[in-house]
Amino acid sequence: MTGLILVAAILLSAGYAKLSTMVLNRMLAVTLPTWANKLLEIIQLLSMPAYAMILLIAFYSRHAGFGGLSWQTISYWELVLILAGAIGFGFLVHSTIVFQSYRPPRCEITCDSRIVDFRTPLTAIAADQVSAPSDWLSTFVGPGPRRRVALLPGNQQFSLEVSTKTYSLPRLPQAWEGLSIVHFADTHFRGAVTRRYFEKVCEHARALKPDLFVFSGDLFDDLALLDWLEPTLGQLKAPLGQYFILGNHDWYLGTNVVRQEYERHGWVDLSSRCIELKSDKSGPPIVIAGDETPWMGKHPDLSHVSPETFRILLSHTPDNVYWAQKQKFDLMLAGHTHGGQIRLPLLGPVYAPSRYGCRFASGVFWLNPTLMYVSRGISGREPIRYNCVPELTKLVLRSGSNFRE
Ligand SMILES: [Fe+2]
Repeated sequence: MTGLILVAAILLSAGYAKLSTMVLNRMLAVTLPTWANKLLEIIQLLSMPAYAMILLIAFYSRHAGFGGLSWQTISYWELVLILAGAIGFGFLVHSTIVFQSYRPPRCEITCDSRIVDFRTPLTAIAADQVSAPSDWLSTFVGPGPRRRVALLPGNQQFSLEVSTKTYSLPRLPQAWEGLSIVHFADTHFRGAVTRRYFEKVCEHARALKPDLFVFSGDLFDDLALLDWLEPTLGQLKAPLGQYFILGNHDWYLGTNVVRQEYERHGWVDLSSRCIELKSDKSGPPIVIAGDETPWMGKHPDLSHVSPETFRILLSHTPDNVYWAQKQKFDLMLAGHTHGGQIRLPLLGPVYAPSRYGCRFASGVFWLNPTLMYVSRGISGREPIRYNCVPELTKLVLRSGSNFRE
């Protein structure tokens, strides 16, 4: 009986953990100040062991095990706790099935990925300053906040998955066949991950030679590191330009200074705007728009854009996908959720600040007629990654004769 009680307590506690993180994820998706976000995270973190302890005390002390549990003896609050755990466990099973059954949509024609481990000498792109594995620590781990977190064994923060993925999109005009975009997300410059790491990421980005670079927000977590932009993103130039929007972490810092720094280095601000891109071949223009809601600005106005025009949206959060779908965007690029940063074996990501929880934590999603790409991003406020390697992706677009839903 003792074993049964323990198993029940563990399953109900796991259910409560799932339910409370679902609530937390949704609360973090709205525009709260950082101190409120931190407070919510601490409350949720403390509530999980508290739930388990209360449950065990109730089972053992008040009811002397399951044998003493009955409708007559169970109190109202005990019933609420058990129900919360049971409902949460149902959600846990559901999200595990969804995570395990995820497959990219069929419009993904090719996927060419390799993982670069920055803790070994970099020979493929540049072997200039990193000569031996022992150098990696002083080269890539800085003195900033959470340095100890960055140094945790097995932390994947100092790896990078560099991918080229080809997508077939039904409305892409022939003149834009092969359009390539390198999508950056969530660098979170804060200091524990050094500038050198981000310079290396940008060297990989430059080697991908895209038609345009885009950054979907959360560049900074510390304005003292503003001068990091010049040797990193400032070195990137593409034939069709470099475009950015800000994220909630840039918003916490004060947006004007960040926008000015981007623009000083040739990046175009897409906040609440819609810009026409023209092909050098004869053919119709396409539009690229930016959306920083719910933190800043408003949805970009597409009323002047013809319904046939191919549309790309840069949105910090994937939560804007249903709006993008209504506006008939063909491609939406987002970040913000970092793939959850830690993915548990079997269960997948746990934390993702989104109205939809972990559903859009990362990956590619087809919501007809919109293809949404959610990047795991490059770093995070906490420099920690397990089973969730930072990513840098080049998307190549093909017009959609071979597209199947
Ligand atoms: Fe972020």
